[in-house]
Amino acid sequence: MSKRINNGSIIHDSDPLIREHSLEVALPLSKEDEELLRSLYNYVYDSTIKEIAEKEDLSPAVGIAAIQVGVKKKLIAVVLKDSEGNVVHEYALANPKIISYSVEEAYLETGEGCLSVPEYHEGYVYRPRRIKVKAYNLLTGQEEIIKAKDYLAIVLGHEIDHLSGTLYYDHIDPKDPFKVKKDAFCID
Ligand code: NI
Repeated sequence: MSKRINNGSIIHDSDPLIREHSLEVALPLSKEDEELLRSLYNYVYDSTIKEIAEKEDLSPAVGIAAIQVGVKKKLIAVVLKDSEGNVVHEYALANPKIISYSVEEAYLETGEGCLSVPEYHEGYVYRPRRIKVKAYNLLTGQEEIIKAKDYLAIVLGHEIDHLSGTLYYDHIDPKDPFKVKKDAFCID
């Protein structure tokens, strides 16, 4: 039984640790790393199930990185569900790395959010519309190349950013937060 992560475990951007670079983990995963990755995945999976989220103190999320619980390891989890709560994409990744990306960009109409950023920072975050990510996926037990597009590409990009201490609002133009790049694809 792995340790539960809840909102009390999550560090915010007021903590300098959130800006640190995470380190690669050894493969095959140690028991400790595997348990942490499973806990990260469980947080995200359970965070959108209302009864569990309330009981366990989780905030609705689509992704999390280990650094957000103060551990400098290249581990991230992403779970995307449809409006009925069915899983559309799910990953529990070790050492994820973007190996290629499109010139074309995409952004979320509503902007991005983050469990480690309590204040809302308004503005558009432009990211590559398509990325290829190489990683070990605990859910399949294999090294994979993930071809991600649109929302999934944005979520993976956001989580992989955490591994180098980058937060979503670093990408927002402070002088013109809602600057429209006309070739970028808007996701609403
Ligand atoms: Ni985040």
